[in-house]
Amino acid sequence: MSTGSTPPLKVTTLRIVRKKAKAERIVCLTAYDYPSALILDAAGVDLILVGDSAANVVYGMATTLTIGMDEMVYHTRAVAAGVKRALLVADMPFLSYQVSVEQAVANAGRFLQAGAEAVKVEGAGPVVPVIKRLVELGIPVMGHLGLTPQSVHKLGGYRLQARKAEDQERLLADARALADAGCFSLVLEKVPAEVAKRVTEGLAIPTIGIGAGPDCDGQVLVLHDMLGMFDTPPLKFVKQYAGLAAEIRKAVAAYSEEVRSGKFPDDDHTFHLEK
Ligand code: KIV
Repeated sequence: MSTGSTPPLKVTTLRIVRKKAKAERIVCLTAYDYPSALILDAAGVDLILVGDSAANVVYGMATTLTIGMDEMVYHTRAVAAGVKRALLVADMPFLSYQVSVEQAVANAGRFLQAGAEAVKVEGAGPVVPVIKRLVELGIPVMGHLGLTPQSVHKLGGYRLQARKAEDQERLLADARALADAGCFSLVLEKVPAEVAKRVTEGLAIPTIGIGAGPDCDGQVLVLHDMLGMFDTPPLKFVKQYAGLAAEIRKAVAAYSEEVRSGKFPDDDHTFHLEK
């Protein structure tokens, strides 16, 4: 007997690719733990990325270079426990895919065993053979071009990328190389909107923008940034949809006041011996 309600379809890499053909925008956010994963999945987010931005927003580090495989696998396992519908992508951290193709395969395999359904890698050039091998072995790969934070020292900071004509041509060529290598989607970070539009129109796979304007096939933001978990002013491309730092402070202040005044715990939150 039918219950009347059909469960929403599981998002797969194939469905993400088809969304581009159907001109349906792809909604992506990062998550690093079980409760956020539950909330994002129930809210209907299409793709959840366990980003190496965990280094910044969970561990308080200045760059993403400091996070390793073990931490990323723990976070992926926690997020996977909360995700039913969204596509779950794990970010391969610095040095987990650059040293050799064999190491990249073993590390990507650890993510799939932890519950991820795809992995993300940054860059093109020497990374292209790695992507080809992973895809050949059945591991879906999301690319990442433009501002690639794992190359922060080479790039000289977190500045806008692809401003010069020659850099725009290289970005377009790299994007095509990643699509040809088998990537199912491509993150474009911090590039001018006009350039992101050109890349998006030139590819059959969807582009997911962060600081790349409105013409990408989807958008991604770091969860803690869009929820306002920090008091520092947000970056230009971040829109804050909540002010959780202030909300949490308010809740903690109320709790502190009630503990100090003896108002908490009241009888509703207290066990008694049965009479
Ligand atoms: O690590 C991350 O969160 C990312 C997104 C910003 C795309 O790579």
